Amino acid sequence: MLVEKLIKEHCLSKEEYIELLDNYTADTMEKLRVEADRLKRQYYGDKVFTRGLIEFTNYCKNNCYYCGIRLDNKNASRYRLTEEEILLSCKTGYDLGFRTFVLQGGEDPYFTDDRMVEIIKEIKSLYPDCALTLSIGERSHDTYKRFKEAGADRYLLRHETANEEHYNKLHPENLSLKSRMECLYDLKSLGFQVGAGFMVGSPYQTNETLAEDLVFLKELDPDMVGIGPFLPSHDTIFADCEKGSVEKTLLLLSIIRIILPKALIPATTALGTADPKGREKGLLAGANVVMPNLSPVTVRKKYSLYDDKICTGEEAAECQGCLTRRVASVGFQLVSERGDVYRD
Ligand code: 5AD
Ligand code: FES
Repeated sequence: MLVEKLIKEHCLSKEEYIELLDNYTADTMEKLRVEADRLKRQYYGDKVFTRGLIEFTNYCKNNCYYCGIRLDNKNASRYRLTEEEILLSCKTGYDLGFRTFVLQGGEDPYFTDDRMVEIIKEIKSLYPDCALTLSIGERSHDTYKRFKEAGADRYLLRHETANEEHYNKLHPENLSLKSRMECLYDLKSLGFQVGAGFMVGSPYQTNETLAEDLVFLKELDPDMVGIGPFLPSHDTIFADCEKGSVEKTLLLLSIIRIILPKALIPATTALGTADPKGREKGLLAGANVVMPNLSPVTVRKKYSLYDDKICTGEEAAECQGCLTRRVASVGFQLVSERGDVYRD
């Protein structure tokens, strides 16, 4: 009943999402997966887009309880790439066929607005045919405006949870859901392609908070949605918490594809870490993006948001070959175009 309604209307009420999440079976999962796959193909065919992820700093002024690079983790070995190293990562990526670069980092005060603007302009002038995505957390409307004017195209900022009480259980007091949401709406109004998202199975998450995530996603209508299982990091307060379920992540990927048929949805590294075939399963469940790492291998292990992260020893070219095969193994084609969101 609810499955049919979701497929027909691309939307359910909060109570209906809760009911769906409380009672899902293998049969529901498969029905939703088949519809998610159909919708994805309707807009994107068998294409899977690739993004070169450059994790350029693991310094962070925040203290999110789940994250391995939180400020209070004195065991984290901190690094920052120089502008030259960032540009070299782009060059490696460009030569491998990447046409989207994602600059991701902790909230590092060293990378002031001026420094970021300079880096954005440099990348966009060297690679005008590439899309540039930023993932560097919360900044002011004016700063986001400067980033946009400098040439940034997209921005990833997971909302983490749409339930305020839950948000406060995952973050210390200086962070708030309200300001996170303001950022997302600012980014949208400035014309960025915007990505939101959350971890599946984060501590204190319930089907009710997940239902609120789904309602929020429908309302925000982001161009990209990143979800992956919560994976404990030994250096955090949540070290002993249980990891998120791969199965439930797959279910949610299919639901999100149905709610937002045109969205760009990655099969995340966290999903690939939780299950050796996680990314392939994610692609089959509705994801259409992969984000291999382009950072120098020397720093890879240090960008450790959670334990046992995959692909930290591989060169970019190795991941590229590996992913090409993995994507093909489930019947899709890894393409090297920019992969902007589908707009009619
Ligand atoms: N497990 C899984 N995902 C995590 N993230 C941060 N810490 C973890 C963890 N322990 C996710 C957050 C963040 C994104 C960059 O990585 O959702 O937004
Ligand atoms: Fe990195 Fe497989 S994608 S080794």
